[in-house]
Amino acid sequence: MKIFLDSADIAEISAAYDTGFVDGVTTNPSLIAGSGRNIMDAIGEICAIVDGPVSAEVTATDFETMLAEGRKLAGIAPNVAVKVPLTRAGLMTCRALADAGTRVNVTLCFTAGQALLAAKAGASFISPFVGRLDDIGQDGMGLIEEICTIYANYGFATEVLVASARSTQHVVDAAMMGADVITLPPKILTALYNHPLTDSGLDAFLKDWQKTGQSII
Ligand code: E4P
Repeated sequence: MKIFLDSADIAEISAAYDTGFVDGVTTNPSLIAGSGRNIMDAIGEICAIVDGPVSAEVTATDFETMLAEGRKLAGIAPNVAVKVPLTRAGLMTCRALADAGTRVNVTLCFTAGQALLAAKAGASFISPFVGRLDDIGQDGMGLIEEICTIYANYGFATEVLVASARSTQHVVDAAMMGADVITLPPKILTALYNHPLTDSGLDAFLKDWQKTGQSII
């Protein structure tokens, strides 16, 4: 399963990318606003750091403007994936951009029916928001299971990108279900490798090692 970083903070992305297990980046208008950066500059810098797909989201709501924005964002770098909302105009924009060879990430997906339409519109990625569904008492990961089944039934190439992840358990569940990608805020990425028993175990090993007086190098 690929891991994307959900961030528009250049320093944060650069530090996480250095670990070697970040395969791409997702941004959204809220993350760009939080970074205080111009979207074109920020996406350009992220694309220069990261080899994999970098999602950059349109902000228009009508088809013509959305398409123009999508073309402009796609022109920043070859690894930009244009992010469009799961609306009628967004799906039409997805079709037009996909037909022109641009990767599209259809975002704000909350039902399997919406995901089916995104696949039919030629999306490279579908982003179901699991955490926001959990927040309203619905089953976010249940939606991932449904979408994975539907896409497998028909051999859709659209990758299931689990978005709005809130915990390491979402990561494990997504991997168990065979989701293609999960995008994570840095704190969840860090929580994936940190464990108190790893820390206490390492402390004990190092204390015993010191007693030997040895050195490996
Ligand atoms: C990813 O593409 C989304 O922008 C992101 O995962 C949304 O997460 P949130 O629900 O925590 O804002």
